[in-house]
Amino acid sequence: MNQIASECQIEIQPMGLRTCAFYGAGLHESLVEAGVALASDCETGSCGLCKVVANGPGLSGITDAERSLLAQHELDAGIRLACQCIVQGDVRVYVPASSILPLRPRELKPPKAPLVRPEDFDPVAEDGTCLGLAVDLGAAQISGCLYDLKTGEKLADAGMINPSAAFGEDAAGKLNEAASNPQGAKMLSRFLRAGVNALAEGAAVKAGASRLDIKRICLVGAPGMIRLLRELPLPGLLAETGRSVASPAVILPAQDLELDVSPQAKAFLPPTPGGSAGADLTALIMALGLDRSDKPALALSMGVDAEAALYLPQRDRLYTISCPPGPALEGAGIKDGMLAAQGAVERVFLSGNSLIIKTIGNVKPIGLCGSGALDAAAALLRLGVMDEMGRLKRKAGGVRQGEEGLEFVLVPRSQSGSGRDIVLTQKDVRQIQIAKSAVRTGIECLLEAAGAAPESIEHVFLAGAYGSDIHLSSAAEIGLTPNFPRARPIWAGAAAGAGAGMMLGSLQYRLRADRIASSAKHLNIKKHPGFNRRFALSLRFPPPQSHGAKSGNAGSSPALPYAFGNSAAHGLNHLQDHNQAACRLYRGQNKAFAE
Ligand code: FES
Repeated sequence: MNQIASECQIEIQPMGLRTCAFYGAGLHESLVEAGVALASDCETGSCGLCKVVANGPGLSGITDAERSLLAQHELDAGIRLACQCIVQGDVRVYVPASSILPLRPRELKPPKAPLVRPEDFDPVAEDGTCLGLAVDLGAAQISGCLYDLKTGEKLADAGMINPSAAFGEDAAGKLNEAASNPQGAKMLSRFLRAGVNALAEGAAVKAGASRLDIKRICLVGAPGMIRLLRELPLPGLLAETGRSVASPAVILPAQDLELDVSPQAKAFLPPTPGGSAGADLTALIMALGLDRSDKPALALSMGVDAEAALYLPQRDRLYTISCPPGPALEGAGIKDGMLAAQGAVERVFLSGNSLIIKTIGNVKPIGLCGSGALDAAAALLRLGVMDEMGRLKRKAGGVRQGEEGLEFVLVPRSQSGSGRDIVLTQKDVRQIQIAKSAVRTGIECLLEAAGAAPESIEHVFLAGAYGSDIHLSSAAEIGLTPNFPRARPIWAGAAAGAGAGMMLGSLQYRLRADRIASSAKHLNIKKHPGFNRRFALSLRFPPPQSHGAKSGNAGSSPALPYAFGNSAAHGLNHLQDHNQAACRLYRGQNKAFAE
């Protein structure tokens, strides 16, 4: 009796919500009562819309309806139908974006994949349908594009939350923790492979094809993510490997990765520049044509990890670096932080002295995602509520004493969707400072090692899961990057996925990837002279007089975003001969992928 009356705790991610339910309550109704806009069309286990990932023993067993509706790899990955689950104890539930209504369009936004130029495309000479899948394995999200390898036509896009990140907020921290013991790593590998299989299935269904027609897969991601996929030992998903030289491409049967595609399918894992810079950076450099730019160019990929690449054409030198920003950019480590899901504050604007809040899904705010937190910090700086050291001013309007120190009330409880105030605390500001300092320090170390001044850089690209969400003017105001007076940042979107697609369909691009990886000089940020001093200095925010329009200095004005498209991707691809000597190194191996 006691058990029946007991309350169970439900942690709901990525919204960062916590709710209570009585033992025996339905999980579906508990989630809906907690404010989750869970997709459903039946509540009897027949539509399959209410998928969640559940961790912990606090749910009833798998029902017959779940066994018939869910694929084995989904069951293996911990996916359940919420309407079939009874709460029987504490449980952590992860609600994927695809199970939330209305879907956030950006979640499934296809990578802006430039088509492989017809002259570079290598049609696969095989009987029957031959499809290729390009996959970008982000720590937080997985995205992919399906191509017809006989025509080069792009057939479908697919995207999903990385199931191996279903451990809640601070994806990097949790993944690193889980990866640090063999059992945890094995479980993560299983989740990751299940995610790729679900992505392949989703893309194939969208294209009206079968996943068994997928004969080639190109997968890019951080080295830790690729090692996880291959079930290789790893020190930590984002750790510097100490190996600062390039690693060559690997081709292996897709079955070795337990990928549920054609039994004859081959998987191509592109080369990496070294250290913790992965094949995703190689793919990004190629998609942007950074290695062929006729002007000094810098690309910054912002995800759970941050990576940057710098190319100096006058020396034909490419430099790369990794600079993990910590969890703040994904909304973790922030008191009212949450991942970028419905209800998250994603934009904070100033209109006069008033703050304007915009949420994902245009619903009442329930928390702050990474871009919202950066915007909020920039707005507080501009309003004078916070000083250059990041200290909130006790007497400023909106600032009050909270449980953990000073805090600024961004949304009063009367206007929030959670029934409580949404605040930015002094500790939150410190987390934002750490994130922005890591990124800025990485870029400065890269420039210094290359002997390049910010004034000499003429192209700056922002890419990656968070890079595309960040408001450029806010990034400039908080000093996320140095001031590049001759460059206006260009959105590059999910360019790494586009690069994976290019390698999938062309031997020339696979050879070029080899050249990129083998010619890049990778820097270990922690070994860079003066790293600690530079990091400490970068914690400061820029002085108010250099903020955007206030400064009157055109060089420090917030940059305007430009659309990124095929023309931009190829704009830097001026015709420069391949370095045939470098290409030859892996020619035989790369050719084998197409045959
Ligand atoms: S609501 Fe239809 S299966 Fe759960």
